Amino acid sequence: MHEADFDVAGQTAIVTGASQGIGRAIAETLAAGGADVAVCSRDIDRVGPVADGINEEAEGDALAVECNVRERDQVEAFVEETVEEFGDVDALVNNAGGEFVAAFEDISPNGWNSIVDLNLNSTFHCTQVAGEVMREGDGGCIVNLSSVNGQHAAPNESHYSASKAAIIRLTETLAVEWADDGIRVNCVAPGLVQTPGVAETLGIQSDQMPPREQVDRRIGHGEDIADVVQFLVSPAAAFMTGETVTVKGVPRPGNSMQHDLGLE
Ligand SMILES: NC(=O)c1ccc[n+]([C@@H]2O[C@H](COP(=O)([O-])OP(=O)(O)OC[C@H]3O[C@@H](n4cnc5c(N)ncnc54)[C@H](OP(=O)(O)O)[C@@H]3O)[C@@H](O)[C@H]2O)c1
Repeated sequence: MHEADFDVAGQTAIVTGASQGIGRAIAETLAAGGADVAVCSRDIDRVGPVADGINEEAEGDALAVECNVRERDQVEAFVEETVEEFGDVDALVNNAGGEFVAAFEDISPNGWNSIVDLNLNSTFHCTQVAGEVMREGDGGCIVNLSSVNGQHAAPNESHYSASKAAIIRLTETLAVEWADDGIRVNCVAPGLVQTPGVAETLGIQSDQMPPREQVDRRIGHGEDIADVVQFLVSPAAAFMTGETVTVKGVPRPGNSMQHDLGLE
């Protein structure tokens, strides 16, 4: 009888932007499942404690590195340190990302470039550098973080929406280009998820969060996204590549994230 294999034990996974929020949940979930994780953020004092917690409690080991994913040389050093520590890279989760809210006509060229740089160009840097290790080795798996705002119109987030939409096309393209290298490339598009940044915007405290068992809720937990990422990294997703998995609870017409944020 067939038994599904969601096991990630023994894999080495890089998770970018893991000092808080969804990235932290992904790193902790993969490590709890036995993967070794290399985590980064722009501030070692913020991401270091995440790795310390993993090393204390999880089955897998963690390495924390200060790395600004917009900077190619820092990404190269991060991946090099990961290989030195763990010997290989099996999975890359391009999670680091962010935005600010502004009407299109108010976005300066500098503001536009900074969001495209953070969301899209960083994905290019990390994927090319970590992908090289995978291509020279036994292949691997890449999971990109898009957003429902990359799938639908997102008023007052045009820079973010455009960069997250581009990530979906990049995912599909690389899935074809790197299939012969044994690399699967998939994408997750979350709806609204409670993270420190979003909590600040909406004023939702973690003790007000509806439990995960509640299907009809407007906001997700980081773990809702992390569990799907674990599935995509695991052998159970062996026949999935080039896909974008939307994780947003009950499918409602339009872009419920924009509505919830009061941006429509
Ligand atoms: N939360 C949502 O509702 C939601 C919905 C859809 C998609 N997403 C996507 O999911 C991902 C995570 O979102 P989140 O809400 O968890 O974000 P968040 O709470 O703002 O956390 C962002 C993380 O990225 C790190 N980071 C930011 N800039 C970085 C850089 N240049 N280099 C390295 N690390 C950097 C931050 O760490 P430091 O500040 O310590 O550098 C932090 O750990 C993003 O790509 C976001 O677009 C989120």
